[in-house]
Amino acid sequence: MWTDQRSRCAEQAALNEAVAHVGSSSRATVFGENTDEGDHVARHFQLFGLSATGGELWRSPVQRARSRGWPDLSGSWQDMPLPDDVRNTSSVGEPRILRRSSGIMMIMSSTIGLPRTPWPRLHLFELCDQPWLPPALRNAETDYLAVAVSVGEVFDPLASKIGELMDRTDSDRIVDLASGGGGPWPRLAAVIGAARGGRVPEVTLTDRYPNQRAIARAADAGLAYAHDPIDARAVPASLVGVRTMFEGLHHLRPDEARAVLEDAHRARAPIVIGEALSRRIAVLITTVLIPVLVLVLTPRIRPRSAWQLLFTYVIPILPLVIAWDGLVSCLRTYRPAELLALTRDLDGHRWVAGHVRHRGATLTYLIGEPVSGDSTAGAPAPRRGRTG
Ligand SMILES: C[S@@+](CC[C@H](N)C(=O)[O-])C[C@H]1O[C@@H](n2cnc3c(N)ncnc32)[C@H](O)[C@@H]1O
Repeated sequence: MWTDQRSRCAEQAALNEAVAHVGSSSRATVFGENTDEGDHVARHFQLFGLSATGGELWRSPVQRARSRGWPDLSGSWQDMPLPDDVRNTSSVGEPRILRRSSGIMMIMSSTIGLPRTPWPRLHLFELCDQPWLPPALRNAETDYLAVAVSVGEVFDPLASKIGELMDRTDSDRIVDLASGGGGPWPRLAAVIGAARGGRVPEVTLTDRYPNQRAIARAADAGLAYAHDPIDARAVPASLVGVRTMFEGLHHLRPDEARAVLEDAHRARAPIVIGEALSRRIAVLITTVLIPVLVLVLTPRIRPRSAWQLLFTYVIPILPLVIAWDGLVSCLRTYRPAELLALTRDLDGHRWVAGHVRHRGATLTYLIGEPVSGDSTAGAPAPRRGRTG
């Protein structure tokens, strides 16, 4: 099968090309016509730091597709049209099929299937996701967001659901993921505390790119903020509590978003996802107001950097950056049915997704709760290193 050195080189070159196509941040799924091929390709992908699934698992979709009369191409690697039933299982990038002369191999950029919607999710680029974006601009953006969600009391409707989840899982701790400038927590902690008879949650904020000014702000508000970067897909075991993620999941492609939920599931941690924007025309139209909101709300940011004022009022880059990211966030936001699709097979958690209407806006949420008696949220925190 892999005996001929020349065809092996061609296969290797095609796989290199496929790896470049899939991108280093994605997980890849490899369909092989038989297990050997799948395993070989899986090993190859692992060399690039990608995870991959080998052939056997995928025999049936391949065979199904073949039985529907794929053209019998021969020769070297060739692109093939994607059968509909395979196309519908992926929403990440443009999946691609490569075929070699003996056997078929398909390489797709995601394993996660989202239900079809009339207006599919679009993962355009957000500036604040770009590693090259200067931290001053990223922090200025998340500082603005923290003020906007607090002033607008945007996530207040989720306070009772979070409080009830804390009661049911016997936890007083919150581990917030993708916290940025702190998001709603300074306000939400007080709202939940008041509803729970003064039991204010002990909140630890975390982010892949911790916002230094927000660390100081969190301390003033009685919250902890982990100094070290924490990826929501791999939360340290030392951080126990109910996990929350506001305005964060849409930053992640389906397979990455799934990894966040898988991580909570693995840790038997309850998790609440909240998104304030949505894929609706009315919401898209309101994003034209964002630059004005940035101009109006910036004076409320404390502490504030000189950069923030310069790039808001003198050279108004920030209002434009935030407006662009807001528009793209709408297009990326998952709908409840899509959120539930991401939880497929994560048994052991009870998953509920839906909308809450609040002041004319529509919040989307997903709540995952370990089935009774199975939660780690109320467990004492293991001895831990530095988190904040
Ligand atoms: C739009 S901000 C939301 C901030 C805050 N939760 C709020 O509601 O204002 C998104 C944040 O997600 C963070 N982020 C993106 N990918 C992440 C990941 N894989 N793990 C942890 N944080 C991530 C970014 O650094 C950014 O701070």
